[in-house]
Amino acid sequence: MKRLILVFTLLCTLFAARADEGMWLPCLIADRIDDMRAKGFRLTADDIYSINQASMKDAVVLFNGGCTGELISPEGLLLTNHHCGYGAIQSHSTVEHDYLTNGFWARSRAEELPNDRLWVRFLVRMEEVTDRLAAGESAESIRKEAEEGGRYRTAIEQMYYGNQQFLFVYEQFDDVRLVAAPPSSIGKFGGDTDNWIWPRHTGDFSLFRIYADADNRPAKYSPDNVPYRPARFFPISTKGLAEGDFTMIYGFPGNTQQYVTADAVAYVVERSDPMKIDLRTRRLEIISAAQEADAATRIRYAAKHANISNSWKKWQGELLGLQRLGTVEKKRAYEARFAEWAAEKPEYAHLLDSMHAAYLNETEGYFLQELYNESVRAIELLSVATAMKQAAKKLPEGFEAQLAKFYRDYDPSIDRKIAKALLHGLEEYHPQPLPQGYLDAVKRCGGIDSYVDQLFDASAFGSFEKTQALLRDTTALTAAIAREPVLELAEWFPRKRIPRNLSNLPAIERWYRPYLKALQEFDTERAFYPDANLTLRVAYGTMNGYWYADAVYHRPLTTIDGIIAKDDPNIYDYDIPQRLRDLYASKDYGPWSITKADGSTTVPVCFLATNHTTGGNSGSPVINARGELVGINFDRTWRSTMSDLEFDPNICRNIAVDIRYVLFVIDRIGGASALLQEMDLR
Ligand code: ARG
Ligand code: ASP
Repeated sequence: MKRLILVFTLLCTLFAARADEGMWLPCLIADRIDDMRAKGFRLTADDIYSINQASMKDAVVLFNGGCTGELISPEGLLLTNHHCGYGAIQSHSTVEHDYLTNGFWARSRAEELPNDRLWVRFLVRMEEVTDRLAAGESAESIRKEAEEGGRYRTAIEQMYYGNQQFLFVYEQFDDVRLVAAPPSSIGKFGGDTDNWIWPRHTGDFSLFRIYADADNRPAKYSPDNVPYRPARFFPISTKGLAEGDFTMIYGFPGNTQQYVTADAVAYVVERSDPMKIDLRTRRLEIISAAQEADAATRIRYAAKHANISNSWKKWQGELLGLQRLGTVEKKRAYEARFAEWAAEKPEYAHLLDSMHAAYLNETEGYFLQELYNESVRAIELLSVATAMKQAAKKLPEGFEAQLAKFYRDYDPSIDRKIAKALLHGLEEYHPQPLPQGYLDAVKRCGGIDSYVDQLFDASAFGSFEKTQALLRDTTALTAAIAREPVLELAEWFPRKRIPRNLSNLPAIERWYRPYLKALQEFDTERAFYPDANLTLRVAYGTMNGYWYADAVYHRPLTTIDGIIAKDDPNIYDYDIPQRLRDLYASKDYGPWSITKADGSTTVPVCFLATNHTTGGNSGSPVINARGELVGINFDRTWRSTMSDLEFDPNICRNIAVDIRYVLFVIDRIGGASALLQEMDLR
C-alpha cells in the first residue's frame, strides 16, 4: 500500500504544475498571487488585472494577431519585437531607403510611418459566461450586448475544451505607426543560425505608436489623429535582474496542447515531426545551396528561409525534448492510473478507449493533410497558379502589385528543384496508394523528375511578364487556367483546413471536454491551467540559467562582449554595424553599462528566465517584482520547445532582450534620445 501511494505521489508530481509551469488567466490571477509573492512579486492581483481601475493589462496589446506588444509612454509608444514589426519595416523599405538594412528612426512625430494593415487590440475585460450559456442565453446575444453598439470586438473562447467559456471584449486600434527599428544586423543579429539558441545576442525590438482620434478613441488613419493616451504604460527599470529574481510575462500565447493523450504525443514523435523535419531539410538544402552560390538569391530567399527554418528548427528541439522526457511513456502510465480510477465511473470509464479508437481512425487523414502541406502545397508555382485561378473569378485589390512582389523574390529554377525533392518525399511518406490520375501523369512522363520538368516547362505562370500579360487578357487567362498542368496537381491533393492541433480533430474534440473534467476530479493535486489559445495570459518565474550538460551551466545573461566575439564581416548573420564596433572600442556605453567581476564595463544584451511561453508571446513584456519592464520576450531555447506539450522546469527557458540593450541601441546607435524622454526610466 505504501508503495502504491509512493508511486501515485511520484506520478502526480511528474505532472503537477511545478514551479514555473502555467499560463494563467489574468482575471483569475488572484488564485496564484500567493505563489507569485512567494517568488518575490510585490504587487497585487488588481495591479495585474482589474476592471475597476487601470491595471497592467491596459498596457499590453495583441500585435497584429500573432505577437504581443506593450505601451511604454503616456503618448502611445509601443514596444514589440523586430521580427514582429518586420513586415511593416520591410513594406517601407526601398533601395533608397533600406530601413531593414540601415534601421529607421523617426526624428519627429511627422516622420512616423503609417501602416496599411497593422492593428493592435487591448483587452477591455474578460468574464466567464459558462453559466449564462448553460442557462440558454445565446453566444450571439452575449457578444452583441458586450460590443456596445460596435465599439468593441468580442469573442467567446473555450477554456479546458469548453468546460469553461469566457467572453473577451477588445478595443482595436488601426492607426499604428512605425517609430523606430534598429538595423537588421542588430534586430536580427545571429539570424537563423542563432534562432532558438542560447547564448543569444539579438536586439529583437522595434517601436511603434498608436494613434487615436481627438477623443482618444480608435480611428482609421488620419493626419488629424493624435498619439493615444493609454490608461497604463510600463515604467522601465534600468537596474536589471540578478539570477533568481522574479519575472513575469504578460502576453498572448498562441497554442499549446498540454492535456492531449499519449496517442497524440506518439503521433507527433513518431510521424508528424520526423516527416515535417525531413521534408523541410530537403527544401532548405536546396535554398541554402542557391543562396551560397549567389548573393542576390541570398537576399531574395532570406525571408522564405527564415520562415521555413523557424519551425523546422523548433520541431527538432521538440522531438528531442519529448524523447528525452519520455512524454509518451509517462502519459501512458498516467492514463493507466486514470483508467483504473475511471473504471467505476460510468460517465468516464469509456473515455480513454473512445479517444484511442478515434485517434486510430483520424490520424491518417491528419497526417495526409500535414504531408500535402509540406510537399505538394509547398511548391510555389502551385500557389501562384491557385491565386491566378481565383483572380480570374474575382480580382482582389492590389493583386498585381502582390504578384510583382512575389516574383521579385521567386526563382523558378529553385522552385523546380524543390518540387522534385518534395514529390519524391510525398511518394516516400504517402501511406496509401497515390491518386490514380497523379500516378498516370508521372508514369506518362517517365518519372517524377521529368513530370516536374514538364509542369514547369508548360506552366503559364513561370514569370511575372507572362503572368502579368495574362492578367490583362481575360480570354487568354481562362484558356491558360484550363490548360495549366500544375492546377491539375492541385486538384489531386486538395487543401483542407487542418485543425489547430491534435485535440481538435473532428471525432476527437468532443471527448476532450469530459476528459478534462474527469482529469480535474482525478488529479486533485495538479494545478490546471487552460491551454494557450491566443488569449491574454500571465506566466511567472525567475531569471535563471540552466544545466545544459554535465558540468556545463548556461548562465542567464549575455553581453555586448559576446556580440564582438561573434562579429565577422564575412558572415551575413554576424556582420554588425561599424558604429557598434566603435562604441565597443571606446567603451562609450553611457548609463546603459554594467560592471563585470574584473572591473571592466559591458552592456547586457539578452537574458533567460523560467517563464512558460509559446509562439505569440514574442514581444511580451518581461516584468520585474515591482511591475517595471526589464525586457522583451522573443524566443525559447532549442531544448525547451517541447514545452508546448510538456513543460520541464529544469530545462525550459524563455529568451528576452534586456531592456538596457534596447535603450542603449535607441540612444547610442539610433541617436534617438528624444524617445527616451517620453519613457518613465527608473
Ligand atoms: N524563434 C522565434 C519565434 O518562434 C523567433 C523567430 C524569428 N527569427 C528568425 N531568425 N527566424 O518566433
Ligand atoms: N519566437 C516565438 C514568437 O514569435 C516565441 C516562442 O515560440 O517562444 O512568438
